[in-house]
Amino acid sequence: MKMFPKNFLWGGAVAANQCEGAWQENGRGPSNLDMVPYGERRFDVCSGKLKPEKLDENAVFPARIAIDYYHRYKEDIKLFAEMGFKVFRFSISWTRIFPSGSEAEPNEAGLRFYEDVIDECLSYGIEPLVTICHFDVPVHLIETIGAWKSREMIGCYLKLCQVLFQRFKGKVKYWITFNEINMVLHMPYVSSGVNFEPGENIIQTKYQAAHHELIASAKAVMMAHEIDPSFQVGCMLAAGNMYPYSCQPADVWESIVKDRENYLFIDVQSKGYYPSYGLKMFERMGIQLQKEPEDDQILLDGTTDFISLSYYNSSVASGDPKMQATAVGNVFPSIENPYLETSDWGWQIDPLGLRITLNSLYDRYQKPLFIVENGLGAVDQVEEDGMIYDDYRIGYLREHIKAMKDAIEQDGVELIGYTSWGCIDLISASSGEMKKRYGYIYVDKDNDGNGSLKRIRKASFYWYKKVIESNGEIL
Ligand code: BG6
Repeated sequence: MKMFPKNFLWGGAVAANQCEGAWQENGRGPSNLDMVPYGERRFDVCSGKLKPEKLDENAVFPARIAIDYYHRYKEDIKLFAEMGFKVFRFSISWTRIFPSGSEAEPNEAGLRFYEDVIDECLSYGIEPLVTICHFDVPVHLIETIGAWKSREMIGCYLKLCQVLFQRFKGKVKYWITFNEINMVLHMPYVSSGVNFEPGENIIQTKYQAAHHELIASAKAVMMAHEIDPSFQVGCMLAAGNMYPYSCQPADVWESIVKDRENYLFIDVQSKGYYPSYGLKMFERMGIQLQKEPEDDQILLDGTTDFISLSYYNSSVASGDPKMQATAVGNVFPSIENPYLETSDWGWQIDPLGLRITLNSLYDRYQKPLFIVENGLGAVDQVEEDGMIYDDYRIGYLREHIKAMKDAIEQDGVELIGYTSWGCIDLISASSGEMKKRYGYIYVDKDNDGNGSLKRIRKASFYWYKKVIESNGEIL
């Protein structure tokens, strides 16, 4: 019996700020990610505690050069095509299109770059999947209006959407409004250009910024459908279920509370309203969202067509405040799970957790799901014969794909595609390292920026090619 649907979208994913580089070329303006340094101050900048202007002069900013995909995208897409990609997920660098964010007219050179990328994909029969905003925010908008703290951002974002929808209709079908929208709670500067003044009510600011993003997303969905009714627009969650530490009811309850922190965003984007538990939470925390009278209707009218997600790990919660969250994961605090192995970066590896997560999302929303990130960040070694034998990565991906199969075949989950993360090595979002590699394609560059940037096919490259060729039958 065939497990994956015939038209299942196999592919890979990248984000502009982690691969493009060329940060000042052809009229591009500076963005928040260009200002995030490598090294020990990184986390403070990411979380909005430290403003980038306060960094010392020799700070190094990995996004500015990254893997130079801006100049090498043809070579890279050719390699994706060689693996048989059906879909390629990439994001738009906002400041290539609107360098400061407030110009009236877009930068034609920026649009032309993405048009070339899209045409290149289409020439190989690869479906482009475009993330409109994968964390990028123009620095000018941070400095002048405080980025997503301000409602004015909605208009700036929609101007970007309109230009993209108009220009790429007929070529792009799948869009994602915001990457990992729940990340605003954890990495507010990286994900939304939000940092904090001393004494600021941080939690109020985060949810207000989130509200602006949710309104922007809903309006973008409506605009997309007006411009081209065949557009499919998705929301995107940094997913991974929260397990109770034990069967003690207090632990089970805490895991529900923690899951809801993330679901809240998708509840709004998929169902069209703030859930009752969310409104009660706002009340308890003293959060007062500033809303316009039309907001509730906008949210209702702008629900997404599909739900996309990243999945790297599950997490564990306890009702006992003395239990410390010591495991490191994708910035979500978690207690260590003694039943799971971890990656080189301490992320807990849990393929069955992917099936659990897919089921939870499908039960809750009953909309098509799209896994747009998943993968293993690991240290790779180029051997004397020039090869990279990344069997550990193959093992990780194989088990996760099996879990997807089970979710589709055994549970009836409607899963439309899988774009594994960092299909070509790129810089890590959390650590800024090159050493943390996810790719099927190795890029010769180290943490200090040394290397020829040469691309090398890893063992996983040949393995994934077979997976795609066999539509997931040969793992
Ligand atoms: C997701 C982000 O949170 O995780 C990506 O959408 C990121 O941008 C990915 O790269 C993996 O995280 P990291 O920190 O290993 O790069």
